[in-house]
Amino acid sequence: MFMRNVQDSPIGVFDSGVGGLTVLRELYRQLPQESILYFADTARLPYGNRSAEEIVQFAREILTWMGQQNVKMAIMACNTSSALALDLVRQEFNFPILGVILPGARAAVKRGRRIGVIATPATAQSNAYRQAIQEINPQAQVWQVGCPEFVPLIEQNRIHDPYTKQVAWQYLSPLLAQNIDTLVYGCTHYHHLSPVFQKIIPATVNLIDPANFVVEAAQKELELMGLRHNYAPLPTRFGVSGCPQTFMRISQQWLGYCPLTEKISLPKIVNSSPLIEEKLEIIE
Ligand code: DGL
Repeated sequence: MFMRNVQDSPIGVFDSGVGGLTVLRELYRQLPQESILYFADTARLPYGNRSAEEIVQFAREILTWMGQQNVKMAIMACNTSSALALDLVRQEFNFPILGVILPGARAAVKRGRRIGVIATPATAQSNAYRQAIQEINPQAQVWQVGCPEFVPLIEQNRIHDPYTKQVAWQYLSPLLAQNIDTLVYGCTHYHHLSPVFQKIIPATVNLIDPANFVVEAAQKELELMGLRHNYAPLPTRFGVSGCPQTFMRISQQWLGYCPLTEKISLPKIVNSSPLIEEKLEIIE
């Protein structure tokens, strides 16, 4: 009987939309021999304005589907999911799941002490970055700004629209007024706005894109678990919950090729125990 090696299995990567492509590009750069399964939950973006319960539920559905596709590891290429769902769902799956917050926080404290974080409203409200950063260095100061308009502007491909620059000024000014020495892109979409940020942020500010560091963490984990793939990978498989054509059109500019994309129906998961049990405990 032909048995497939687990090393040959893909790494699952997911985001609400094109934000996770920043992580995918880093995977291509740092781990070019790995096969990737990329899922974008475009039917339900933006995640950043969703409730914690919804974000956890979406992560469970996507990870269940990824498990059915036999991934050997999953990366939440989404800060919002990493901030609100990772700790809750990690134990429910039999493959390692990595998030972007911890690798991003570690990189930030290596560079600075006055750290600004731009993120979705859900990530900013969760305080995940402040907690992760101050756990590593209690002396570090952290300012977090929720930026609800960025993701829709990026998904609508309005990067070079003058309005986007105006919005960026509004979100970044309070952080610059605090004399930050380091800025964390606390949403994987934001790297796509680099040309806009470069005109606003002084060159002295360290820019941290957690996408780079989560891939370093993935590499270490794969090595530790003996899961590295050492031959040519399969072509990346792309799936979306929304319109494949829209995703293909907008992704092309970030990837340099047009990704052939399937429409995926995620498995429906009945709101499972961890959340409900937690609520019951609080009521009791
Ligand atoms: N790119 C995701 C993040 O890093 C989600 C953005 C959204 O859908 O609001 O938070």
